[in-house]
Amino acid sequence: MNATRTLRPDAPGIAEAARLLAEGQLVAFPTETVYGLGADATNDLAVAGIFAAKGRPRFNPLIAHVSSLEMAEEIARFDARALALAREFWPGPLTLVLPTVGRVSPLVTADLPTVALRFPAHPTARALIAALGRPVAAPSANPSGKVSPTRAAHVLAGLSGRIAAVIDDGACAVGVESTILGVFEEITLLRPGGLAVEAIEALVGPLARPKKTTLPNAPGQLESHYAPEAPITLNATTPGAVHIGFGPETRPDMPPGEVTLNLSPRADLTEAAANLFHFLREADRLAQGRPITVAPIPDQGLGRAINDRLARAAAPRP
Ligand code: TXA
Ligand code: MG
Repeated sequence: MNATRTLRPDAPGIAEAARLLAEGQLVAFPTETVYGLGADATNDLAVAGIFAAKGRPRFNPLIAHVSSLEMAEEIARFDARALALAREFWPGPLTLVLPTVGRVSPLVTADLPTVALRFPAHPTARALIAALGRPVAAPSANPSGKVSPTRAAHVLAGLSGRIAAVIDDGACAVGVESTILGVFEEITLLRPGGLAVEAIEALVGPLARPKKTTLPNAPGQLESHYAPEAPITLNATTPGAVHIGFGPETRPDMPPGEVTLNLSPRADLTEAAANLFHFLREADRLAQGRPITVAPIPDQGLGRAINDRLARAAAPRP
């Protein structure tokens, strides 16, 4: 593989990225949640390349990204509930798991009878998918198990030389991955994420929680993921070498030479989500293997997604 190219989010850059995808190559691109590692979702070889580039140990199913509801309806069956969710929240940070009609590579669905679909709001992502004219399979553009990328520099730090190009369009506004709903007998929250559960429940009522049996490939709740190199302690009251704070807290006890990063000095969960993955990377760089601590984060709104990702970052490593 040649050196990874950095493309601009302008018309020529997007056209070049679409050409690379059509050729079966891998291109990382911005979405409003995190940067995705894209491949033509209908090309088996290209999709297989995603797993190789990320070093994913097994073929987890991937999200197929679309640029319109019409494109989504060619890939999956939408019932009235799925249509209502799509009409209310698409484009945006919501992924729907629906019965597949088999138009995407079986590597995208891991041979499940369902497919995960997302219509991202980010204009560059939408333009890229529309230019390809086919769904784009994309996990987060990071090596397997590592922190998801919210900037092009994060993508290059993990995947440079392993992918054809990255479209650099600055920092992601939401900063945590999409909320995933399974539209099964019951509408089931498979992953908390960038769309608050409260907003979804206002439309469709209380969400079910996953049953183990319906979730062969769901993101494991205790799986180590988003993992920095340094050990992490959550809900910390005593700061470690590097402390990730939240809200207008002070650390009068902080010894000299230690660092505090504050996810949101004004205690705004949306701002905290946007900063989360960048700060995990920063903390890891500054800690050099020494302990990282994180302040308690309120478990509401985007705080649920933040706490989910922090729990995985702190989970026992394989
Ligand atoms: O915000 C996002 O969702 C980002 C951006 C790039 O769109 N993508 C992302 O993809 O987070 P990834 O691969 O890191 O996470 C996709 C999750 C996986 O945990 C997978 O288990 C789940 O979606 N998934 C995919 N298809 C599924 C299916 N048919 N049934 C259940 N879970 C599925
Ligand atoms: Mg990921």
